[in-house]
Amino acid sequence: MEFAESKSEARRLIARARADGKTVGFVPTMGALHRGHTSLIEASSSEHGYTVVSIFVNPTQFGPNEDLDRYPRDLKRDLETAEGAGASLVFAPSVEEMYPAGFTTFVEVSALGDVLCGASRPGHFRGVTTVVAKLLNIVRPDVLYLGRKDAQQAIILSRMVRDLDLGVKVRVMPTVRGPDGVALSSRNGYLSAEQRACASRLFESLSKAGHLFEAGERDVSRLVSAARAVLDGEREIAVEYLEVRDAESLSELSRVEDRALLALAVRIGDTRLIDNIILDPGTGSFEA
Ligand code: PAJ
Repeated sequence: MEFAESKSEARRLIARARADGKTVGFVPTMGALHRGHTSLIEASSSEHGYTVVSIFVNPTQFGPNEDLDRYPRDLKRDLETAEGAGASLVFAPSVEEMYPAGFTTFVEVSALGDVLCGASRPGHFRGVTTVVAKLLNIVRPDVLYLGRKDAQQAIILSRMVRDLDLGVKVRVMPTVRGPDGVALSSRNGYLSAEQRACASRLFESLSKAGHLFEAGERDVSRLVSAARAVLDGEREIAVEYLEVRDAESLSELSRVEDRALLALAVRIGDTRLIDNIILDPGTGSFEA
Protein backbone atom coordinates (compact mmCIF):
# COMPACT_ATOMS: atom_id res chain seq x y z
CA MET A 1 0.00 0.00 0.00
CA GLU A 2 1.20 3.48 -0.88
CA PHE A 3 1.02 6.60 1.29
CA ALA A 4 0.92 10.30 0.45
CA GLU A 5 0.64 13.42 2.57
CA SER A 6 0.91 15.95 -0.25
CA LYS A 7 -1.51 16.54 -3.09
CA SER A 8 1.31 16.40 -5.63
CA GLU A 9 2.52 12.98 -4.40
CA ALA A 10 -1.06 11.62 -4.40
CA ARG A 11 -1.59 12.87 -7.95
CA ARG A 12 1.71 11.34 -9.09
CA LEU A 13 0.88 7.90 -7.63
CA ILE A 14 -2.67 7.94 -9.02
CA ALA A 15 -1.41 9.01 -12.47
CA ARG A 16 1.00 6.06 -12.41
CA ALA A 17 -1.84 3.63 -11.57
CA ARG A 18 -3.89 5.12 -14.42
CA ALA A 19 -0.93 4.71 -16.79
CA ASP A 20 -0.88 1.03 -15.79
CA GLY A 21 -4.48 0.83 -17.03
CA LYS A 22 -6.13 0.70 -13.60
CA THR A 23 -9.50 2.25 -12.76
CA VAL A 24 -9.72 4.25 -9.56
CA GLY A 25 -12.21 3.96 -6.69
CA PHE A 26 -12.24 6.56 -3.91
CA VAL A 27 -13.33 6.31 -0.26
CA PRO A 28 -13.14 9.63 1.65
CA THR A 29 -12.96 9.25 5.45
CA MET A 30 -12.03 11.08 8.62
CA GLY A 31 -10.11 8.06 9.93
CA ALA A 32 -10.83 6.05 13.11
CA LEU A 33 -11.63 3.34 10.60
CA HIS A 34 -14.16 0.64 11.48
CA ARG A 35 -16.11 -2.01 9.58
CA GLY A 36 -18.41 0.65 8.09
CA HIS A 37 -15.38 2.20 6.39
CA THR A 38 -13.80 -1.12 5.45
CA SER A 39 -17.04 -2.23 3.74
CA LEU A 40 -16.58 0.75 1.39
CA ILE A 41 -12.86 0.04 0.85
CA GLU A 42 -13.61 -3.63 0.15
CA ALA A 43 -16.38 -2.72 -2.33
CA SER A 44 -14.00 -0.38 -4.14
CA SER A 45 -11.07 -2.78 -4.19
CA SER A 46 -13.26 -5.55 -5.61
CA GLU A 47 -14.24 -3.25 -8.48
CA HIS A 48 -11.04 -1.26 -9.16
CA GLY A 49 -7.35 -1.94 -9.65
CA TYR A 50 -6.55 1.10 -7.49
CA THR A 51 -8.45 2.21 -4.37
CA VAL A 52 -7.66 5.57 -2.77
CA VAL A 53 -8.67 6.16 0.86
CA SER A 54 -8.37 9.69 2.22
CA ILE A 55 -7.99 10.27 5.95
CA PHE A 56 -8.62 13.88 6.87
CA VAL A 57 -10.46 15.26 9.90
CA ASN A 58 -11.96 18.19 8.03
CA PRO A 59 -12.15 21.28 10.27
CA THR A 60 -14.60 23.17 8.01
CA GLN A 61 -17.40 20.67 8.68
CA PHE A 62 -17.22 20.99 12.48
CA GLY A 63 -19.12 23.75 14.30
CA PRO A 64 -17.41 25.87 17.00
CA ASN A 65 -18.85 23.74 19.84
CA GLU A 66 -18.41 20.35 18.18
CA ASP A 67 -15.93 17.53 18.72
CA LEU A 68 -13.10 18.53 16.31
CA ASP A 69 -10.50 18.45 19.10
CA ARG A 70 -11.55 15.16 20.65
CA TYR A 71 -12.34 13.38 17.35
CA PRO A 72 -10.38 10.06 17.50
CA ARG A 73 -7.11 10.03 15.54
CA ASP A 74 -4.84 6.98 15.14
CA LEU A 75 -3.07 7.03 11.79
CA LYS A 76 -0.90 3.97 12.41
CA ARG A 77 -3.88 1.76 13.18
CA ASP A 78 -5.87 3.26 10.29
CA LEU A 79 -3.07 2.45 7.83
CA GLU A 80 -3.15 -1.21 8.89
CA THR A 81 -6.95 -1.33 8.67
CA ALA A 82 -7.02 0.34 5.24
CA GLU A 83 -4.33 -2.01 3.91
CA GLY A 84 -6.17 -5.05 5.29
CA ALA A 85 -9.34 -3.98 3.47
CA GLY A 86 -7.50 -3.65 0.14
CA ALA A 87 -6.61 0.06 -0.12
CA SER A 88 -3.89 0.89 -2.69
CA LEU A 89 -3.15 4.41 -1.46
CA VAL A 90 -3.89 6.29 1.75
CA PHE A 91 -3.88 10.05 1.25
CA ALA A 92 -3.60 11.78 4.64
CA PRO A 93 -2.99 15.50 4.10
CA SER A 94 -2.47 18.10 6.83
CA VAL A 95 -4.93 20.94 7.41
CA GLU A 96 -2.39 23.34 5.82
CA GLU A 97 -2.14 21.11 2.74
CA MET A 98 -5.92 21.20 2.23
CA TYR A 99 -6.56 24.76 3.43
CA PRO A 100 -3.46 26.87 2.77
CA ALA A 101 -3.47 30.47 4.03
CA GLY A 102 -5.85 32.58 1.96
CA PHE A 103 -8.28 29.73 1.23
CA THR A 104 -11.66 31.32 0.58
CA THR A 105 -13.70 29.26 -1.91
CA PHE A 106 -16.62 27.10 -0.74
CA VAL A 107 -19.03 24.73 -2.48
CA GLU A 108 -22.59 24.77 -1.24
CA VAL A 109 -25.60 22.68 -2.27
CA SER A 110 -28.47 24.99 -1.36
CA ALA A 111 -31.68 23.92 0.45
CA LEU A 112 -30.71 20.23 0.86
CA GLY A 113 -28.13 21.30 3.42
CA ASP A 114 -30.54 23.33 5.57
CA VAL A 115 -32.84 20.54 6.85
CA LEU A 116 -32.37 17.51 9.15
CA CYS A 117 -28.72 17.56 10.33
CA GLY A 118 -28.15 20.87 8.51
CA ALA A 119 -30.72 22.63 10.72
CA SER A 120 -28.73 21.97 13.91
CA ARG A 121 -25.28 22.02 12.32
CA PRO A 122 -25.14 25.25 10.29
CA GLY A 123 -22.29 25.19 7.78
CA HIS A 124 -21.65 21.47 8.29
CA PHE A 125 -22.62 20.33 4.79
CA ARG A 126 -20.87 23.32 3.21
CA GLY A 127 -17.68 22.00 4.82
CA VAL A 128 -18.40 18.46 3.59
CA THR A 129 -19.15 19.49 0.00
CA THR A 130 -16.13 21.79 -0.12
CA VAL A 131 -13.66 19.17 1.08
CA VAL A 132 -15.13 16.36 -1.05
CA ALA A 133 -15.08 18.63 -4.15
CA LYS A 134 -11.40 19.30 -3.45
CA LEU A 135 -10.63 15.62 -2.85
CA LEU A 136 -12.44 14.64 -6.06
CA ASN A 137 -10.33 17.16 -7.98
CA ILE A 138 -7.14 15.71 -6.50
CA VAL A 139 -8.03 12.02 -6.89
CA ARG A 140 -10.23 12.18 -10.05
CA PRO A 141 -11.72 8.74 -9.37
CA ASP A 142 -14.09 6.73 -11.56
CA VAL A 143 -16.33 5.89 -8.59
CA LEU A 144 -16.93 7.62 -5.25
CA TYR A 145 -18.01 5.25 -2.42
CA LEU A 146 -20.24 6.61 0.35
CA GLY A 147 -22.15 5.05 3.26
CA ARG A 148 -25.93 5.20 3.64
CA LYS A 149 -25.29 5.68 7.36
CA ASP A 150 -24.84 9.37 6.52
CA ALA A 151 -27.84 9.44 4.19
CA GLN A 152 -28.22 13.21 3.92
CA GLN A 153 -24.51 13.56 3.18
CA ALA A 154 -24.79 10.97 0.39
CA ILE A 155 -27.85 12.74 -1.07
CA ILE A 156 -26.11 16.13 -0.99
CA LEU A 157 -22.83 14.83 -2.46
CA SER A 158 -24.73 13.00 -5.23
CA ARG A 159 -26.46 16.27 -6.07
CA MET A 160 -23.17 18.18 -6.06
CA VAL A 161 -21.64 15.64 -8.48
CA ARG A 162 -24.65 15.97 -10.77
CA ASP A 163 -25.01 19.75 -10.58
CA LEU A 164 -21.29 20.45 -11.12
CA ASP A 165 -20.82 17.74 -13.82
CA LEU A 166 -18.00 16.20 -11.83
CA GLY A 167 -18.12 13.07 -13.97
CA VAL A 168 -17.75 10.52 -11.18
CA LYS A 169 -20.17 7.69 -10.41
CA VAL A 170 -21.50 7.61 -6.84
CA ARG A 171 -22.13 4.30 -5.07
CA VAL A 172 -24.00 4.40 -1.76
CA MET A 173 -23.40 1.29 0.35
CA PRO A 174 -25.61 -0.17 3.12
CA THR A 175 -25.13 0.75 6.78
CA VAL A 176 -22.93 -1.66 8.73
CA ARG A 177 -24.32 -2.34 12.24
CA GLY A 178 -23.19 -4.05 15.40
CA PRO A 179 -25.01 -7.14 16.69
CA ASP A 180 -27.19 -4.82 18.82
CA GLY A 181 -28.32 -2.92 15.70
CA VAL A 182 -26.23 0.16 16.49
CA ALA A 183 -24.79 1.69 13.30
CA LEU A 184 -21.00 1.64 13.55
CA SER A 185 -19.65 5.15 14.06
CA SER A 186 -16.38 6.68 15.20
CA ARG A 187 -18.45 8.55 17.78
CA ASN A 188 -19.75 5.34 19.44
CA GLY A 189 -16.47 5.27 21.34
CA TYR A 190 -17.68 8.26 23.36
CA LEU A 191 -20.56 6.19 24.85
CA SER A 192 -20.48 4.53 28.29
CA ALA A 193 -21.73 0.91 28.49
CA GLU A 194 -25.10 2.16 29.73
CA GLN A 195 -25.38 4.72 26.96
CA ARG A 196 -24.42 2.08 24.40
CA ALA A 197 -27.33 -0.07 25.59
CA CYS A 198 -29.58 2.97 25.09
CA ALA A 199 -28.21 3.52 21.59
CA SER A 200 -29.67 0.19 20.48
CA ARG A 201 -33.12 1.76 20.89
CA LEU A 202 -32.46 3.91 17.81
CA PHE A 203 -32.51 1.01 15.38
CA GLU A 204 -35.39 -0.53 17.31
CA SER A 205 -37.34 2.66 16.78
CA LEU A 206 -36.57 2.79 13.05
CA SER A 207 -37.37 -0.92 12.65
CA LYS A 208 -40.70 -0.46 14.41
CA ALA A 209 -41.75 2.07 11.78
CA GLY A 210 -40.13 -0.06 9.07
CA HIS A 211 -42.22 -3.08 9.97
CA LEU A 212 -45.35 -0.96 10.07
CA PHE A 213 -44.43 0.27 6.58
CA GLU A 214 -43.99 -3.34 5.44
CA ALA A 215 -47.45 -4.09 6.82
CA GLY A 216 -48.80 -1.42 4.44
CA GLU A 217 -48.79 1.80 6.48
CA ARG A 218 -48.01 4.80 4.21
CA ASP A 219 -49.16 7.65 6.47
CA VAL A 220 -46.07 9.59 7.58
CA SER A 221 -47.45 10.85 10.90
CA ARG A 222 -48.38 7.30 11.95
CA LEU A 223 -44.96 5.97 10.96
CA VAL A 224 -43.21 8.76 12.84
CA SER A 225 -45.39 8.28 15.95
CA ALA A 226 -44.60 4.57 16.05
CA ALA A 227 -40.86 5.26 15.89
CA ARG A 228 -41.08 8.06 18.44
CA ALA A 229 -42.99 5.92 20.93
CA VAL A 230 -39.93 3.64 21.25
CA LEU A 231 -37.66 6.58 22.12
CA ASP A 232 -40.09 8.52 24.31
CA GLY A 233 -39.66 6.01 27.13
CA GLU A 234 -35.89 6.60 27.29
CA ARG A 235 -34.90 9.45 29.60
CA GLU A 236 -31.27 9.34 28.40
CA ILE A 237 -32.23 9.95 24.77
CA ALA A 238 -32.98 13.51 23.60
CA VAL A 239 -34.46 13.42 20.11
CA GLU A 240 -33.20 16.22 17.85
CA TYR A 241 -35.30 15.17 14.86
CA LEU A 242 -37.19 12.12 13.64
CA GLU A 243 -38.61 12.70 10.18
CA VAL A 244 -39.69 11.10 6.94
CA ARG A 245 -38.58 12.92 3.79
CA ASP A 246 -38.30 12.20 0.08
CA ALA A 247 -35.08 10.21 -0.43
CA GLU A 248 -33.86 12.42 -3.29
CA SER A 249 -35.25 15.93 -2.78
CA LEU A 250 -35.51 15.72 1.05
CA SER A 251 -38.89 17.47 0.76
CA GLU A 252 -41.47 16.87 3.50
CA LEU A 253 -44.11 14.22 2.90
CA SER A 254 -47.49 13.30 4.34
CA ARG A 255 -47.61 9.91 2.58
CA VAL A 256 -44.85 7.60 1.34
CA GLU A 257 -45.37 7.23 -2.39
CA ASP A 258 -41.75 7.18 -3.63
CA ARG A 259 -38.53 6.10 -1.93
CA ALA A 260 -38.41 7.91 1.39
CA LEU A 261 -35.86 8.41 4.13
CA LEU A 262 -36.82 7.87 7.76
CA ALA A 263 -34.00 9.60 9.59
CA LEU A 264 -33.26 10.52 13.18
CA ALA A 265 -30.66 12.35 15.22
CA VAL A 266 -30.47 12.11 19.00
CA ARG A 267 -28.22 13.08 21.81
CA ILE A 268 -27.24 10.55 24.42
CA GLY A 269 -25.34 12.54 27.04
CA ASP A 270 -22.89 14.69 25.07
CA THR A 271 -22.82 12.35 22.09
CA ARG A 272 -24.81 13.04 18.94
CA LEU A 273 -25.84 9.94 17.00
CA ILE A 274 -27.69 9.61 13.69
CA ASP A 275 -29.35 6.66 11.95
CA ASN A 276 -31.85 6.05 9.18
CA ILE A 277 -33.67 3.53 7.03
CA ILE A 278 -35.06 3.78 3.50
CA LEU A 279 -38.75 3.06 2.96
CA ASP A 280 -39.25 1.71 -0.56
CA PRO A 281 -42.85 1.50 -1.78
CA GLY A 282 -41.54 -0.18 -4.97
CA THR A 283 -40.55 -3.29 -3.01
CA GLY A 284 -42.86 -2.65 -0.04
CA SER A 285 -39.92 -3.18 2.31
CA PHE A 286 -37.36 -1.12 4.18
CA GLU A 287 -33.59 -1.03 3.74
CA ALA A 288 -31.59 -0.81 6.93
P1 PAJ B 1 -16.57 9.45 8.11
O1 PAJ B 1 -17.56 9.72 9.19
O2 PAJ B 1 -15.21 8.96 8.48
O3 PAJ B 1 -17.23 8.43 7.11
C1 PAJ B 1 -16.57 8.08 5.92
C2 PAJ B 1 -17.52 7.24 5.06
O4 PAJ B 1 -17.86 6.04 5.76
C3 PAJ B 1 -18.85 7.99 4.79
O5 PAJ B 1 -19.27 7.77 3.44
C4 PAJ B 1 -19.80 7.32 5.78
O6 PAJ B 1 -21.15 7.36 5.38
C5 PAJ B 1 -19.26 5.89 5.79
N1 PAJ B 1 -19.70 5.17 7.01
C6 PAJ B 1 -19.52 5.57 8.30
N2 PAJ B 1 -20.09 4.68 9.15
C7 PAJ B 1 -20.65 3.71 8.37
C8 PAJ B 1 -21.41 2.52 8.64
N3 PAJ B 1 -21.71 2.13 9.88
N4 PAJ B 1 -21.82 1.77 7.59
C9 PAJ B 1 -21.53 2.16 6.32
N5 PAJ B 1 -20.83 3.26 6.00
C10 PAJ B 1 -20.39 4.03 7.01
O7 PAJ B 1 -18.45 11.05 6.42
C11 PAJ B 1 -17.33 11.51 6.62
O8 PAJ B 1 -16.33 10.80 7.26
C12 PAJ B 1 -16.92 12.91 6.16
O9 PAJ B 1 -18.04 13.75 6.23
C13 PAJ B 1 -16.28 12.92 4.75
C14 PAJ B 1 -17.24 12.43 3.67
C15 PAJ B 1 -14.99 12.08 4.73
C16 PAJ B 1 -15.89 14.39 4.38
O10 PAJ B 1 -15.02 14.92 5.32
